[in-house]
Amino acid sequence: MIEVNNIVKEFVSAKKYPGLKGAIKGLVSREKVVKRAVDDISFSIADGEIVGYIGSNGAGKSTTIKMMTGILNPTYGECLINGVNPCKNRKKNAQNIGVVFGQRTQLWWDLPLSESFTILKEIYKVSDEDYKERMEFLNNVLELNEFFDRPVRTLSLGQRMRADLGAALLHNPKVLYLDEPTIGLDLVVKDNIRNAIKEINEKYNTTVILTTHDIGDIEELCSRIIIIDEGKKIYDGSLEELKDTYGTKRKAYMEVKNMGAVKKTDLAEKLGVERDDCVVEFDDEKKNVCVTFDKRKLQVPQVVNAVMEITEMQDLKLQETDLADIVKEIYNHGFQAELG
Ligand SMILES: Nc1ncnc2c1ncn2[C@@H]1O[C@H](COP(=O)(O)OP(=O)(O)OP(=O)(O)O)[C@@H](O)[C@H]1O
Ligand SMILES: [Mg+2]
Repeated sequence: MIEVNNIVKEFVSAKKYPGLKGAIKGLVSREKVVKRAVDDISFSIADGEIVGYIGSNGAGKSTTIKMMTGILNPTYGECLINGVNPCKNRKKNAQNIGVVFGQRTQLWWDLPLSESFTILKEIYKVSDEDYKERMEFLNNVLELNEFFDRPVRTLSLGQRMRADLGAALLHNPKVLYLDEPTIGLDLVVKDNIRNAIKEINEKYNTTVILTTHDIGDIEELCSRIIIIDEGKKIYDGSLEELKDTYGTKRKAYMEVKNMGAVKKTDLAEKLGVERDDCVVEFDDEKKNVCVTFDKRKLQVPQVVNAVMEITEMQDLKLQETDLADIVKEIYNHGFQAELG
């Protein structure tokens, strides 16, 4: 369905110099700065997949989406969406895709939403019959009826996002691009949007590519994620695999009677592991000892027993590394870093 082959996007801008003199120098200088926003990215996505495309701010996500939708031309490489090159064949491609950019609306600001939909119906040549069926479905999942007659500019952010999603889906596209579709939404609307995406994917086998900074979106929707960093692809695989490989750390919070005694003990040595595999932190106020350990090397009972041999334990809480921690680590330290 989607083939992305070694795409690169370079943005060229004039070199800037500081100060007023610099500004004048900049006007006459021909020096250029080349910024590689997307650096040799390839992947393929099958029909009906929901793929999370994630990375820190400025990683190159939106730029990739723009190339896949035909808004930007790749500097090198090409994409094929359902066999169509989106840059060379924009019109044909448009029939296949729906796009939502969470940061700005694609709808006509001053027109009532209903008129935007009528225009889109004409643009995409949706038959009356299909239109009726589609609108019924979209109304069910997105509840557009509530504000269908109002100008887009009067809609709240959540309403506008639902409207945008509906508009992107009116022509029943095979591929749906969502660039931060839940940005700024409250938990209820977020949930509605996620459910709508799920339903559309299930009912029409729509392929979805989703960029987001909301880990909840990923956990709820995506079975596969692609992570990019500084324009390069650094991970492509299932969520489970990522968690298995990189979520190797566990935390045990133990409330103890005699903190001082634990402080005096070298727990890693006691357990016979490297210091990095058993890191101990103390919270004096809560009388908490927090041990972060590698679950491949130590089991919970070993850690708990070791502490109980030193002092009495009053409470125990365990915590797995969650996806948010893993992703944060990857953004901070790259993919090879030891994650916890
Ligand atoms: N038209 C442009 N001209 C010059 N540089 C650009 C242009 N568009 C994007 N960039 C740069 O390319 C890089 C990638 O931008 P992009 O918008 O793809 O990031 P992103 O991953 O979507 O980030 P965010 O999470 O903040 O939306 C950034 O450094 C950005 O400043
Ligand atoms: Mg972006």
